[in-house]
Amino acid sequence: MNLIVVGAQWGDEGKGKVIDVLSEDADILIRYQGGHNAGHTVIADGEEFVFHLIPSGLLHPGKVGLIGNGVVIDPAALLEEMGRLEARGIDVKRAVKISDQAHVIFPYHKRLDLLEESTRAGRIGTTGRGIGPCYVDKAARSGIRIGDLCGDGFPELLRRNVAEKNRLLRALYSEPPMSYEELLAQYRGYAKRLAPHVVHGPRFLREAMAQKKRLLFEGAQGALLDIDHGTYPYVTSSSATAGGACTGAGIPPTAIDRVIGVVKAYTTRVGEGPFPTEFSSELMERIRTKGKEFGATTGRPRRCGWFDAVVARHAVDVNGCDAVAVTKLDVLDDMETIQICVGYRDGSRTLDDVPADAALLERCRPVYESLPGWRSETGEASGFDELPAAAQRYLKRLEALLGVPICLISTGSKREQAFKVGCW
Ligand code: IMP
Repeated sequence: MNLIVVGAQWGDEGKGKVIDVLSEDADILIRYQGGHNAGHTVIADGEEFVFHLIPSGLLHPGKVGLIGNGVVIDPAALLEEMGRLEARGIDVKRAVKISDQAHVIFPYHKRLDLLEESTRAGRIGTTGRGIGPCYVDKAARSGIRIGDLCGDGFPELLRRNVAEKNRLLRALYSEPPMSYEELLAQYRGYAKRLAPHVVHGPRFLREAMAQKKRLLFEGAQGALLDIDHGTYPYVTSSSATAGGACTGAGIPPTAIDRVIGVVKAYTTRVGEGPFPTEFSSELMERIRTKGKEFGATTGRPRRCGWFDAVVARHAVDVNGCDAVAVTKLDVLDDMETIQICVGYRDGSRTLDDVPADAALLERCRPVYESLPGWRSETGEASGFDELPAAAQRYLKRLEALLGVPICLISTGSKREQAFKVGCW
């Protein structure tokens, strides 16, 4: 069975943990979009591991991970992550494959990302990793791919790109130029180390499927950060929804058997942009502290709010989710009352879908439904029936609002604090 796991909110839904649990039943794990802006945290054997570029199921021995063509790769970040994984006893040489069609991030992308953020009228709050500018080059057809990096044409491609970026840095930002020679030497060093991992992604997956290997596609970020279906322009620059797996890995839609969306039992968002259910300061602090809601990549405090069923339903629809996994249920353990947003109000108008216009969403007020909290610990539960009755009621209500079953529940950061539900 080939499965896609996607974020169904604004990222940070706990996909790393869910993928870690589900990857027991997979052979090949694939990242298909985004870059090292992502941070997927897995806690295994009491130790925390944060993945940024490498698929997060790789802590299980014997798995193989592919970084697909839709990903943008910062070689320094990737090599650092490979080193950390090797230190954990994973045979990285065998386990990590990189698509020759994935685009490469260079230091000028990062500089432009930071400069654009500091001069733009409306900040997006990017991670500053050069992700957006790298995708700009991809769409402009001037980008450099992993295959280019490892090939003979690299010096000329780099020369052209550096010259163009230096013109931009000088003319738009009065910034000093970057050295072509330094970049060439640095990236040639990376190429030598990455070359043994490079494969042609679509062929690699086609052969794997012919051998009946099971594929698990790991979405990064979330549907509401998707370049098309998110709260544009406050989004990332890639297709974070399930469709992105096909273009970002080179597999046909017909090869996908199931899509699982991941939602937190509440909502968070990092960076700027509309967030209708955002808490006021007292609840914000309480949930942020209890949920350790600080970015795994940038350390930035995450904005927190109630579960927004309009947002999650939109994500279920655009992803075609067959089921959802609910994470961090335990963070709500001591709440007296829990709210779920079931619609929006803009003046006298009611909305039951996420509007395309970010300014309108910013104006919208949430319509809440209140449910009693359970005020007891859920961290020890190992099945749905062991959850407090009020927690069961909350989850059943989410299922009804989203129109799909819950397939997995996570009640803590450890691997053991998660259980599958129903037939999944
Ligand atoms: P970029 O992806 O660095 O360009 O950032 C664009 C927006 O996506 C910003 O609001 C970031 O905070 C957000 N973002 C990017 N990656 C993640 C992630 O992995 N989790 C949560 N938010 C993210």
